[in-house]
Amino acid sequence: MNIGIIGTGNMGGNLAKLWARKNHKIMVTSKDLKQSGEIAVQAGENVSVGSLKDVADFGEVIVFAFPYEAIDEVISKTGSFSGKIIIDIINPLTEDILGLKIGFNTSAAEEIAKKIPGAHVVKAINTIASPVLERGNIEIDANTPTVFYCGDNEDAKSKVSKLISDIGFEPMESGPLTNARYLEPMAEFIVQLAVTGLGANIAYKILK
Ligand SMILES: NC(=O)c1ccc[n+]([C@@H]2O[C@H](COP(=O)([O-])OP(=O)(O)OC[C@H]3O[C@@H](n4cnc5c(N)ncnc54)[C@H](OP(=O)(O)O)[C@@H]3O)[C@@H](O)[C@H]2O)c1
Repeated sequence: MNIGIIGTGNMGGNLAKLWARKNHKIMVTSKDLKQSGEIAVQAGENVSVGSLKDVADFGEVIVFAFPYEAIDEVISKTGSFSGKIIIDIINPLTEDILGLKIGFNTSAAEEIAKKIPGAHVVKAINTIASPVLERGNIEIDANTPTVFYCGDNEDAKSKVSKLISDIGFEPMESGPLTNARYLEPMAEFIVQLAVTGLGANIAYKILK
């Protein structure tokens, strides 16, 4: 699948490498393209670099891996993302990362979906801390972490579910996009656990 990734920091850069290893074609971009260029060199032939507009055109799926505050600037340079599947991994954290800027009666995912009404926004991967992606081996203590995904378009969710399992996680159907109101606080709780002393090599696992 053609995957565009906007933001090549801790999250976007590692996701590019993981999906490229599974033979997906990736195009990445960031504010300063130097960082994206380095990721493309490290990841090999399946990863290319383009402008924001190039990436928005290229991807059947586009990953939003930039800070919440950049959403208006990204949309102003890319357009509507009409017909695209958006994987929104964004957590609207405060500057000190110890709180959420919005929540409970809305979420970053819902606010983003309102700004790009022609796109199919799926909230996913936001509860995974970047050190878990960096390790290469996704399993923790022989357990496969759960990746929750929610959204309002079944076809989009099914494609995102496949992309989640491609990189080794257990995908978990998590209902409509309004459930991002609960997934975003879950990500903040991972931060709280990490700073309490557990470190960031931790993840959620659903037991049935
Ligand atoms: N870190 C985690 O463990 C984690 C876990 C789950 C979810 N998230 C979420 O994932 C997102 C990315 O986090 P991160 O830790 O990867 O951040 P990061 O390392 O700071 O990387 C952010 C990336 O976004 C790019 N960017 C910023 N403004 C942009 C703009 N206007 N246009 C295009 N690209 C822009 C940056 O480009 P430049 O470097 O060129 O400025 C950089 O490549 C955040 O929303 C965060 O809440 C993070």
